[in-house]
Amino acid sequence: AYDFLKSHSAVDSVEFAVRMMEDNTLFNAGTGAMMQSDGIQRMDACIIDGYRNKGGAVAQISGVKNPIEVARMVMEKTQHCLIVGEEAQKFAYLNGIGRYVTVTKESIERWLKIKEDTHYGTVGAVAIDMDGKIAAGISTGGWATSLPGRVGDVPIIGGGTYANEQVGVSCTGHGEKISKAILAGAV
Ligand code: GLY
Repeated sequence: AYDFLKSHSAVDSVEFAVRMMEDNTLFNAGTGAMMQSDGIQRMDACIIDGYRNKGGAVAQISGVKNPIEVARMVMEKTQHCLIVGEEAQKFAYLNGIGRYVTVTKESIERWLKIKEDTHYGTVGAVAIDMDGKIAAGISTGGWATSLPGRVGDVPIIGGGTYANEQVGVSCTGHGEKISKAILAGAV
């Protein structure tokens, strides 16, 4: 990711870094992401371009490999900040993203074992590029024991992530506590 940053913008580098982590089944994002308490995976992601003061996010999306890529499309192709659920999935497919199953044998086994939630493995990245421009991004599968449809801090700009011309922030931890503190935006 560091080499990538040498020749790419902060926003491209953040998307690249988060995609790599979404593709790694060790993390609770993208492939291998946690399911909610009804056994359905619904993922949240957000990306912010601090220099352009733009942000895009998706919440409760499934059936795509990289939620961060869809969040980037929301930022670049729409006048909105956040698109949710089936409509986010449809938006992704309409914009050329392929269908993808992010549930794995391991994620099912992990979900079956979890009784008390551990909020593990939300991923995030912050980058500053050669022009001094800052971006931040974040992606998660949420919690195994949450109510279906629960959305935490991740897709809320200023909740789990934030960037402006001076600073970039990406948080991990208990989404409700992060949201109530408006943690990333409190910089
Ligand atoms: N911080 C990730 C979540 O609570 O969903």
